[in-house]
Amino acid sequence: MNCGEYSPYFSMGFSQEKQMLKHLQKELQALDDKGLLRTLKNISKVTGNKIIINGKEYLNFCSNNYLGLADHPLVKEKAKKAIDDFGFGSGASRLISGTTILHQDLEAKLATFKHREACLVFTSGYQANIGIISSLAGEEDTIIIDRLNHASIIDACKFSKAKLQVYPHKDMEALKKVLQRSERFDKRLIITDSVFSMDGDISPIPEILKLAKKYHALVMVDEAHSTGVLGKTGRGIEEHFGIKGEIDILMGTLSKALGSLGGFVCGSKPLIDYIANKARSFIYSTALPPSACAAALASLGIIETNPDRLKQLWTNVQYLKTKIQALGFNILGSETPIIPILIGESKKTMKASKTLFENGIFVSGIRPPTVAEGEARLRITVNALHTTKEMEQLVHALQNNLKD
Ligand SMILES: Cc1ncc(COP(=O)(O)O)c(C=O)c1O
Repeated sequence: MNCGEYSPYFSMGFSQEKQMLKHLQKELQALDDKGLLRTLKNISKVTGNKIIINGKEYLNFCSNNYLGLADHPLVKEKAKKAIDDFGFGSGASRLISGTTILHQDLEAKLATFKHREACLVFTSGYQANIGIISSLAGEEDTIIIDRLNHASIIDACKFSKAKLQVYPHKDMEALKKVLQRSERFDKRLIITDSVFSMDGDISPIPEILKLAKKYHALVMVDEAHSTGVLGKTGRGIEEHFGIKGEIDILMGTLSKALGSLGGFVCGSKPLIDYIANKARSFIYSTALPPSACAAALASLGIIETNPDRLKQLWTNVQYLKTKIQALGFNILGSETPIIPILIGESKKTMKASKTLFENGIFVSGIRPPTVAEGEARLRITVNALHTTKEMEQLVHALQNNLKD
């Protein structure tokens, strides 16, 4: 049999395939001309914040591994043990034969950690948002979101067919007005990131909850960047604001401070049972590998027994933020380990990222469509493992190369 028969372009005919490739190349060139072409960097080894790319060592300042748990000895040991016990792939979706006792233990642990009745784990945070949002909201409903919410929330809203309404970033007057004119919808669902992933600022949750109560709306919060990071014991946004159990739907990821992979939702038992029965990205996707559950479980244990890591993270955040601000950079409203440096133009941003890379420091440039046109930036993330010497190395590189 001719392999060409399996080509997705085969039915188009050879000349159409060629035309298509020409079109794709033109599009890629257009992206490159605007400084928007994305390429991959292949890391061959990771030791804490030291990474090897093409045989050269770089200092990583763009990982979301906030507590440095991704290569913690206990996390690795538990993941290896799970591979020994279960193999690597889970082999089926959760509702078929993909649920192990590690999935169950992790869901029970996360529910307790977030002070909720129940929890459901997905294969990624992206899938969690798609599944939760599209199963809870439909054509007769409206979803109201902050302008800077993560792409997975925006994609999920489109998938849900609910009427999408966007309010300007953290603008509570605007949110109030949207709620006032939304009474005709069956359900009003407000969704916000807890920590905005490209700006590093914190959502005004208490104000959102007050408005939601007044206008009978539900609130869902994406805790991707607050789980393990915010609050005295790392429990997240509710602990940060001193509230407990007031948010209707708590979503989060295992892939950032927990150093693993996966997404989750915590809430009441009926809510979780409903999502498990309706969320297509949960039902029709292979379960998270048991080793990822074991790693996340180990990380949660470390967070509970070793609060010094979280303290160190915040000491580092304060140190680096103060130093970067002292150089006169615009770090927007950063309040967390995510410290952006606003540059503006995409090409200039990528040049800055390249210059730092040439100086042995890996900081990614963030461009449209991830951020708005004219708001391209470097996105620095600091974690608990960065030493003062490493942070100084970054500060010197910024000072020597990016200051006019
Ligand atoms: C706010 C937010 N939500 C969801 C996600 C998706 O999570 P995951 O990477 O686990 O798919 C991310 C990750 O980039 C995120 O920043």
